[in-house]
Amino acid sequence: MLIAGNWKMHLDARGANELARGVMDATADAGPVQVAVCPPYVHLGALSSTLKNSRVRLGAQNMHSADKGPFTGEISASMLLSVGCHYVILGHSERRQKFGETDASVNAKVKRALRTGLVPIICVGEHLRERSAGAEKEVVASQIKFALEDLKLVAPNALVIAYEPVWAIGTGKTATPGQAQEIHALIRSLLVRQFGGEVASGVHILYGGSMNPGNARELLVQPDVDGGLIGGASLKAEDFGAIVEIAQSVSR
Ligand code: 13P
Repeated sequence: MLIAGNWKMHLDARGANELARGVMDATADAGPVQVAVCPPYVHLGALSSTLKNSRVRLGAQNMHSADKGPFTGEISASMLLSVGCHYVILGHSERRQKFGETDASVNAKVKRALRTGLVPIICVGEHLRERSAGAEKEVVASQIKFALEDLKLVAPNALVIAYEPVWAIGTGKTATPGQAQEIHALIRSLLVRQFGGEVASGVHILYGGSMNPGNARELLVQPDVDGGLIGGASLKAEDFGAIVEIAQSVSR
């Protein structure tokens, strides 16, 4: 199980440090559950020190696909690695919708992250209009196919997938456990086809979209739900810690 917090564009330096300390305390006894926080770029260096010697890993929310160059305002994978990042979220729906992220750019970033030694958390998920049209499987399968194009994977822990139905993000509406499991099983089958059963069975497939301490258990007990990517509820150490505790209690 992996529980990761996506802090999005929230918190100043002091707030981020306080939350990181809170998460550290709240998750100190998480047993086998892996824990990560993904703060805004500017806090990564400081939080790397704060979280040193703790079990909480650090992730970024995006990166550029090039290693360096004339890309004002952008951040590379090797920079993220050098400040202590383990994970990088790629292809979040907010980036696809609001910042022109495409399947091709996600694929290029995934390749760069893997080559550099970062673990990409690749986000996929359908819009409400797509689900209403019964096209959710087609949409997710296509996003997975493009994100993973030409990719070889030898170790399951080199990659994480997050299923985040867009209509469930920040809305308080969560996918039902059945809806989540159905898409997670589809993602698993695509991973099996590309990487083989042994690797695919070990890849963490996270659910994201209004997960909170009240609904986490029913989602996390699903056989192909291997954790959560948490937005709003990750901004309160107590709630995030409670989700990690639930993950621990249902851990496989
Ligand atoms: P919420 O948990 O706030 O719905 O956000 C989910 C998300 O987008 C995580 O990446």
